[in-house]
Amino acid sequence: MKVAPSILTCDFAHLAGEIKRIEASGADMLHLDVMDGVFVPNLSFGPPVIERIRRVTGLFLDVHLMMAYPDRLLEAFASAGADSLNLHVECDSPLGPALEKIRSLGLKSALTLKPGTPAEAVFPYLDQLDMVLVMTVEPGFGGQKFMAEMMPKVTAIREEIHRRNLAVSLQVDGGVNRQTAVQAAKAGADIAVAGSALLGDPDPRSFVEALHALS
Ligand code: DX5
Ligand code: ZN
Repeated sequence: MKVAPSILTCDFAHLAGEIKRIEASGADMLHLDVMDGVFVPNLSFGPPVIERIRRVTGLFLDVHLMMAYPDRLLEAFASAGADSLNLHVECDSPLGPALEKIRSLGLKSALTLKPGTPAEAVFPYLDQLDMVLVMTVEPGFGGQKFMAEMMPKVTAIREEIHRRNLAVSLQVDGGVNRQTAVQAAKAGADIAVAGSALLGDPDPRSFVEALHALS
């Protein structure tokens, strides 16, 4: 399984150094959590910070938009250097046009489901997607506990992707550590977002290697 470290719990006063540390771990991409204080009860960062991150790393930038109206800033995230834009199914922007817009900007498109949203909510959009993200915590904060009860949802989406013969990646986000990653891989996820567990690990390289060995 691939590893997408989330920088949400890193030391933001030393962001470039934290990103170098993540690069050295052998991680596959960066997961950037954008929060608007409306869709989730927290704020994080937006396009200007992503633009600065783009200048210090060549890693693929996967941007998780926890925003009520993500369509208002799609161009701004694209110009900032995002590689993929990930919208919540539950947001208030019309999804079909927003997904089309993301692809027309030359970026990969993804949809995310909160824990209370069923697998089927994403099925009508699967043809327009490069990735689906199943939240394994309530979005808004790093460092929460993995919800193992989301695994049947991961499996249901994996089966639908397979049934329709699509090349869509399936990500889990929230509470992923060396143990919970095993459950997620078994359920059918092929990318794990990992924030606090990876950044807090004394040996991030071996953390990434352990997850790479899962399938
Ligand atoms: C939660 C974010 C996650 C979070 C993951 O709202 O979407 O990406 O930062 O952090 P950990 O791995 O600490 O749960
Ligand atoms: Zn996230």
